[in-house]
Amino acid sequence: MKNIVVLVSGGGTNLQALIDAQESGIIKNGKITCVISSKADAYALERAQKHHIKTRVLVRKEYPDTAAYSKAILNAITEEKADLVVYAGFMTILDEQVVKAMPNKMMNVHPALIPSFCGKGYYGLRVHEEALKKGVKLTGATVHFVTEVCDGGPIILQKAVEILDDDTPETLQKRVMEQAEWKILPQAVSLFCEDRLEVRNDRVYIK
Ligand code: GAR
Repeated sequence: MKNIVVLVSGGGTNLQALIDAQESGIIKNGKITCVISSKADAYALERAQKHHIKTRVLVRKEYPDTAAYSKAILNAITEEKADLVVYAGFMTILDEQVVKAMPNKMMNVHPALIPSFCGKGYYGLRVHEEALKKGVKLTGATVHFVTEVCDGGPIILQKAVEILDDDTPETLQKRVMEQAEWKILPQAVSLFCEDRLEVRNDRVYIK
């Protein structure tokens, strides 16, 4: 059974999707053992506590720089004996010391079809604002392994979502979550825990 550590910063609906998937048996051979938040008031913490999952808070603002914060996160995930780390709405960039310690063992969910609308500065509602501004007809979500390049790691799963004429950033965000993120994140986590993901030449193959 693999230990899954989930990193969060906000509402935690993706964490909730993982908890629900775990409880309904969709996640095979893995268990969420700890939720770490970068914010003390993240609602995600309440979601974890309701399901008796251990929580830890490491407030980004209490650390002088990215290196110091990354070291603290790395210590925590090491202490928790994480086999897999999931960024689920985790809004803080970590440096390469964490990535190097957990190669192809950290995944992130991004609310767009990478390589569109991704990279530094593209997070949360902003991603959907930009998609609407550009007028694309399709968007979606991507789950990918985390590397040193922001949103640049090997892609595990993607799912497309149609954009409607009367969408606002908020309605689009909600539909992308419901139709894509909450489905592909638990699927990707389960595939990892079942040892069914193989990375070759920056490409992910599902066994
Ligand atoms: C989600 O849409 C997630 O994909 C996005 O933030 C939201 C968090 O919601 N993450 C990013 O933009 C990371 N680049 P949640 O806290 O309810 O899961």
